[in-house]
Amino acid sequence: MNYPGMTLWFTGLSGAGKTTIALGVLHEIKARNYRVEMLDGDAIRCHLSKGLGFSKEDRDTNIRRIGFVASLLSRNGVVVIVAAISPYREIRDEIRCNTTNFVEVYVKAPLEVCEARDVKGLYAKARAGKIHNFTGIDDPYEAPLNPEIICYTDSETVEESVAKVITALEKRAYIFTPQNSAVDTN
Ligand code: ADX
Repeated sequence: MNYPGMTLWFTGLSGAGKTTIALGVLHEIKARNYRVEMLDGDAIRCHLSKGLGFSKEDRDTNIRRIGFVASLLSRNGVVVIVAAISPYREIRDEIRCNTTNFVEVYVKAPLEVCEARDVKGLYAKARAGKIHNFTGIDDPYEAPLNPEIICYTDSETVEESVAKVITALEKRAYIFTPQNSAVDTN
C-alpha cells in the first residue's frame, strides 16, 4: 500500500459545524478502508493540550501540536481529519507548508447563526462576560483566503456538506471511489 496520506483541516467558528461534518466524512472514508484518524479540538484540549487556554499564544501552541501530530500521521499514509477553530491564518498556513497533502475546509456560518445554535451555551456565557476571549465575540477569527473547500452550513444540510468534501477529495485523487479503492483489502 503506497497511499500517500493527507490532512483534511476543518476551520471555523465554534458551532459552525466542524465536528459534525468531520464525523460524517470520517465515517465515509473509514467505510472505504482507509486508515483514518480524527483530531478534534475539544478532545485534544483534554489530553495533548490539557492546561492550555485561549490566549493567542496558547491557541497557536494548541494548533501547532495538532499540526505536528497530523504531519506525522499523514506522512505515514493516514487520512488525518482535524476539527479545530484554528482562528489564525498564519498558523494554518504554516501547517499547510509542513504537512503532506493539506486540504483546508472552511466551515462557514454567520456568527449570528452559530450564536443562535449555541450548542454548548458558551456564546451566552461570552455575551454575559462570564468567559473571555471567545472567538467571534471578543477574540478574532481570520477566515481562510483560499480554502480548497467551503461548507456553508447555514444553507447546506450535513449530508450535502459531507458529500461536497468527499467529492472534492475524489477530484483531487486523495481518495478513490469504493470499487477503485487505493487500499488492498485482502
Ligand atoms: S483553537 O482556537 O485552539 O483552535 P479549539 O478548537 O482547540 O480552539 O477549541 C475550541 C473549543 O473550546 C470550542 O468548541 C469551545 O467548546 C471551547 N472554548 C472554551 N472557551 C473558548 C473560547 N474562549 N474561545 C473559543 N472556544 C472556546
